[in-house]
Amino acid sequence: MTHVLRATCTHSTDHVVAAHMTRKFAIEVGFDERSADEVAISAAELVGNAVRHAGAGVLELRAIEGPRAGIEIVVRDRGPGIASPELALVDGWSRGGMLTPDSMPTKGLGRGLGAVQRLTDAAEIRTTGRETVVTARRYVGPPSPTRSAMVTFVRDG
Ligand SMILES: Nc1ncnc2c1ncn2[C@@H]1O[C@H](COP(=O)(O)OP(=O)(O)OP(=O)(O)O)[C@@H](O)[C@H]1O
Ligand SMILES: [Mg+2]
Repeated sequence: MTHVLRATCTHSTDHVVAAHMTRKFAIEVGFDERSADEVAISAAELVGNAVRHAGAGVLELRAIEGPRAGIEIVVRDRGPGIASPELALVDGWSRGGMLTPDSMPTKGLGRGLGAVQRLTDAAEIRTTGRETVVTARRYVGPPSPTRSAMVTFVRDG
């Protein structure tokens, strides 16, 4: 049976629930404790983005089966889309501007998507003016050479 878990996230604390669920799922898939933490952080950042920047989102976790076990995290929302996806990946870029070393961030560090990029083996952002879908995959075992490779697809519409 394919292992899948889905949760609708609407509340400002749902990223915590998402982290908990994802961590548990990751351990079941075969990740060690540290890797499960990293996978959980990735899911929490994406859910946090969907709730904060789009109002709500749906988290889907899938076990990747076959010779290389892993987990696929998909977070989709029907928000306004990410205005500048390439900039959104830059650490310190938050809500349309760059935080300076002196600024005291009260809403975010602008490092969430950067963290996902660093903690997963492959990730893809699809964003339009109506929705955003981020898919991130992380495999059990040592880092793949492609870890930190973020592929961004931007579509108009
Ligand atoms: N699902 C989304 N819908 C719309 N805009 C988004 C979405 N996800 C990210 N963004 C935009 O990309 C920016 C960067 O996201 P990122 O997660 O890196 O930082 P942040 O959410 O501002 O802060 P934090 O470090 O707390 O996550 C956000 O400030 C927001 O403008
Ligand atoms: Mg964020």
